Amino acid sequence: MLVHIKDLIEDAQKGGYAIGAFNVHNLESILGVAQAAVRAGSTAIIQVSEGAIKYMGLKPTTHIVSTVAKNVADGAPIALHLDHGSSFQTVFECIAAGFSSVHIDASALPFDENIRLTKQVVELAHSKGVWVQGEVGAIVGGHGERGGKIDIPKANPQEVIEFVRKTGVDTIAAAIGTAHGTFENEDVDLELLRQIKAKVKIPFVLHGGSGIEDAKIRQAIKGGVNIINIGTDIKVAFSETLKKTCKDNPDETDPRKLMSPSIKAVEEVIYNKMVLFGSAGHYPLGLIET
Ligand code: G3H
Ligand code: ZN
Repeated sequence: MLVHIKDLIEDAQKGGYAIGAFNVHNLESILGVAQAAVRAGSTAIIQVSEGAIKYMGLKPTTHIVSTVAKNVADGAPIALHLDHGSSFQTVFECIAAGFSSVHIDASALPFDENIRLTKQVVELAHSKGVWVQGEVGAIVGGHGERGGKIDIPKANPQEVIEFVRKTGVDTIAAAIGTAHGTFENEDVDLELLRQIKAKVKIPFVLHGGSGIEDAKIRQAIKGGVNIINIGTDIKVAFSETLKKTCKDNPDETDPRKLMSPSIKAVEEVIYNKMVLFGSAGHYPLGLIET
């Protein structure tokens, strides 16, 4: 079922676990998340980037996610979130379309402008009951990238604290050592996370969750991470499986036969993340369907 993100997060904060925010790109990856959520007995956040919205269309995206959440995920609570929204226009459209949470990523702007734009989004979103994620210190890399080493600048903890106080965001993302994609030198700076969490009580969102070793993910959750974004691992599972299926079945023309193994591969990746994040077996009680 489709629920408001706040209902999921409050339970995760109380229970000391993290919820996966999974980047989807098509119907098949949405099905993969829903099937994993049912199998794991887990909550989930389905998130779309502007690129995914451009590919599927905003209305189809909201309708597909909502109907899959209702009919495939059945009792599994799922929230819909905009990932890395780059403009007021995009977040406005997603709020109007029924998202319960939006990310305004103005982290590439000068700090004061980031605060100004994020605050504007918070004013609009809160008047509609929608949550806002802000970002300080841009997270480098790109969804789906697989590389050697990359330069990973980190956020200034004092700026993160000031940003949260001045903007009133509901969740906060900040560069703490991870990158989008999978890179050899990615890590979670637990000391930086500790400094931020000592002053910032709202949920912390860890971006760039692919490529981080399991033990570090567990420590990050202990350190106060309540949402973990996973994009690249999903893209890779889907595409590598599709390539192999096509190679093994060169005469097959039925897209359903070619793509079914990819849905299963996505389900598998997400199921394992749900177990790792501790969200498996956590359906918050008393949720109201939106
Ligand atoms: O915003 C989405 C994520 O931060 C995904 O990062 O591709 O490294 O899993 P990832
Ligand atoms: Zn991200």
